[in-house]
Amino acid sequence: MAAGQIGYGVPPSLSAKVTGSFAYLTIRDRMPTILTKAVDTIHRNKNKFFEEHGEEGISAEKQAISLLSKLRNELQTDKPLLELMDGLSDTESWNQYMQRQQRQLGDQELVSWFKSPWLYVECYMYRRIQEAICPPINNFDVFNEGKTQSFFESQQAVMALCTYLGDVQKSMEKLSENQLSEYFNKLLQVSLWGNKCDLSISAGQENSQKASPIDSLPSLQSFILVNDSNMVWLTLNSSRRPEGSGQKTADRVDIVLDNAGFELVTDLVLADFLVSSGLARHIHFHGKCFPWFVSDVTANDFQWTIRQTMAANHKWMSKSGFQWQSYLNEGIWSYHDHPFWTQPHEFCDMAADAPDLYATLQEADLVLFKGDLNYRKLTGDRAWGHAVDFCTALRGFEPAPLCSLRTLKANVQVGLQLGQGEKLSTEDPSWMTNGKYAVIQFHGPKLE
Ligand code: F6P
Ligand code: MG
Repeated sequence: MAAGQIGYGVPPSLSAKVTGSFAYLTIRDRMPTILTKAVDTIHRNKNKFFEEHGEEGISAEKQAISLLSKLRNELQTDKPLLELMDGLSDTESWNQYMQRQQRQLGDQELVSWFKSPWLYVECYMYRRIQEAICPPINNFDVFNEGKTQSFFESQQAVMALCTYLGDVQKSMEKLSENQLSEYFNKLLQVSLWGNKCDLSISAGQENSQKASPIDSLPSLQSFILVNDSNMVWLTLNSSRRPEGSGQKTADRVDIVLDNAGFELVTDLVLADFLVSSGLARHIHFHGKCFPWFVSDVTANDFQWTIRQTMAANHKWMSKSGFQWQSYLNEGIWSYHDHPFWTQPHEFCDMAADAPDLYATLQEADLVLFKGDLNYRKLTGDRAWGHAVDFCTALRGFEPAPLCSLRTLKANVQVGLQLGQGEKLSTEDPSWMTNGKYAVIQFHGPKLE
């Protein structure tokens, strides 16, 4: 079957066609709010653009505001989507994807904001924001303020977490296998709940971590609807190879990052634990090439976060920051971005549409996918029944053993027990979108 074509038994994509659906409300309310805030941010930075680029900076500022206002109008009046015109390296592929969507829709109507798949149009909005911010101000990250604010507002939680990590590391040599697995589970769950703190769901409103992340874990336990952490643990252990065994030089865990701010710190702490405990030798982080879904990590956010952690006036926090920087210097950690992460494709298309990235992921022993948007892409953002197998919803996407760490913020959820989704709908009608629930959902060879 050609990429993008829908096979027998594959449900339709979620879209705003259903009035009142979460997709509909997102496109009607949340996305225009995000655009309005972007316009405001650009306007407030006018002087900075002038200082850096003179009159050209001011013209670019005016142009960006006008293009973003036009974009908001197109969205609100359900206009057809427009081809990108900016001639960047991914422009052609976005335009081809639009044609693919058009073919699926048929020739009766044009791809548009409320008729096309929600996943596609939401991604497309972020790419149009990038197109609107032209040279010489094209390196301006319109979402930067929110991301840095989210980091500073979670300082107490970050300090608590780094202190905890330091304590664990002090006793690392003496830990029994059980203790190690207990710490692993805790830090995996901290990284999971770190995903509550994204700024897209709140349309940019402050959404940082205040409570101590470790102390909160017991009370959150019952909100984890699927917990395959044991499979993740077994996978890590089965791929541990003694140094110099000659089988493979590196055990590698890849983390497909989601949000900057507190969530990124939880991912770095988990990655540090994996390396310092000997569970993994290398960590590859995957981030975004341009500002995405308000709070997602770019290369700049990644480096900035480590620099800030190093510079903190707190012993354990700055110690962690220095440790992370030295992992990067030594190549134990590395940061990667690939245009596919900022494209609208379902991940089942990756092997055909980004074979180089698929091949890279195949080298990992485990791939952790952080967050809600990655879950939507893993499952194609389709109207699957809740009891459908995760494996079925992945539609052949299995580059390596993988695990989704996701708090639920969009109405797709698979892999539940029969009747579990229905029960949740009765008890808490907004369970799929209120960010209270989470999954640690694994797919890979079953190990004993
Ligand atoms: O609708 C909420 C939303 O914008 C979803 O589109 C998206 O899946 C989510 O927020 C972003 O969440 P996360 O940062 O966890 O991917
Ligand atoms: Mg995000």
